[in-house]
Amino acid sequence: MTTQATFPAHERVSIALGDRSYPIDIGSGLLDAADSFANLPTAHSAMIVTNETVSPLYAQRLERALAPRYPRIHTVCLPDGEAHKNWETLNQIFDALLSQGCDRKTVMFALGGGVVGDMTGFAAASYMRGVPFVQVPTTLLAQVDSSVGGKTAINHPLGKNMIGAFYQPQLVLCDLDTLSTLPSRELSAGLAEVIKYGPIADMAFFDWIEANMDALIARDPAALAHAVKRSCEIKAWVVGQDEREAGLRAILNFGHTFGHAIEAGMGYGAWLHGEAVGCGMVMAARLSQRLGGVDAAFVERLTRLVQAAGLPTVAPVLDVQDNLGRYLALMQVDKKSEAGEIKFVVLDRPGSAVVRGAPDALVARVIADSVRL
Ligand code: NAD
Ligand code: GLY
Repeated sequence: MTTQATFPAHERVSIALGDRSYPIDIGSGLLDAADSFANLPTAHSAMIVTNETVSPLYAQRLERALAPRYPRIHTVCLPDGEAHKNWETLNQIFDALLSQGCDRKTVMFALGGGVVGDMTGFAAASYMRGVPFVQVPTTLLAQVDSSVGGKTAINHPLGKNMIGAFYQPQLVLCDLDTLSTLPSRELSAGLAEVIKYGPIADMAFFDWIEANMDALIARDPAALAHAVKRSCEIKAWVVGQDEREAGLRAILNFGHTFGHAIEAGMGYGAWLHGEAVGCGMVMAARLSQRLGGVDAAFVERLTRLVQAAGLPTVAPVLDVQDNLGRYLALMQVDKKSEAGEIKFVVLDRPGSAVVRGAPDALVARVIADSVRL
């Protein structure tokens, strides 16, 4: 372990977006502290959006912390799971907002993982043409990635996250204590997004993750705190330069082109998003190697780290008759595709990523190698 023995109780990372700037507060005990919410807009009412798994764990505590600030607090509890990230569930949020007489000053709070966060953000973006909202992420994946940067969405049967908006929260509050109840498989899924930041932006962080993987898996508080903070710093740096993904922001999708194909091809929920991204990063590293950006030793290093995080590195067969065709068809639905050309995030060297197309023959080799190994 190379983390310090002690870690400050509260760290702040800022995301600089002009008048849409906001803090990401990271620490222990933040959920229960009324102070955590002191700088939010005042309003007559607050709406907490959560789900059936997270609600019994944390909703009452958030309600109590908000009570001094908001005279009326409503909580809407959604069904749990990626399969419910759709219009029907989104409408449950609008039904609650309207039936409770919430006005345009109502502050919404997303209490849960990335599914709750993405849906609450989209509801906040569109309810009365936009109300303020706060992200209170309770999964590692949401704390290091999905709660930061303002991407909000629901799924469409024909594609993941296809309907949504860019809409920034007022505050992201990462209470590290909530990670204590997270199932191990979900912790590993979050580690995929932590690992991602190394190859695309910061090899010193990659070295640190390698040295501290055991501590992260053991949920060492100082290790988790550093992982969340450094991940948020890197994401804030990227989003601060390219909020709406005109270019640079796409590097945050390292491993996601292959990963989205695996998620969709296996049926949503069979592989967790982070599991698919873990395997997808290994595939993207292999493609980078074939394009000359990294060597075999780097691919091996990344593969071992993804395995150490408890994530799969062997790609699934999506179609026994035409596996390549199925991968290619699914990857074309990716939002990075342009005029049918599939785009990949590849490494031009360890610590630096670019977005580009690749010859089908190379992609075919990568898929064949990844399925077999
Ligand atoms: P999730 O929201 O489904 O949460 C995973 C599981 O953990 C769920 O069953 C949830 O109820 C449970 N859970 C949450 N917090 C818990 C806690 N503290 N204790 C116990 N159980 C808890 O999944 P996720 O991995 O957090 O997020 C995945 C979603 O995020 C996907 O829909 C993905 O598309 C989206 N995403 C969005 C962005 C973005 O930039 N907006 C980035 C990455 C991923
Ligand atoms: N998770 C990718 C992004 O926020 O752009």
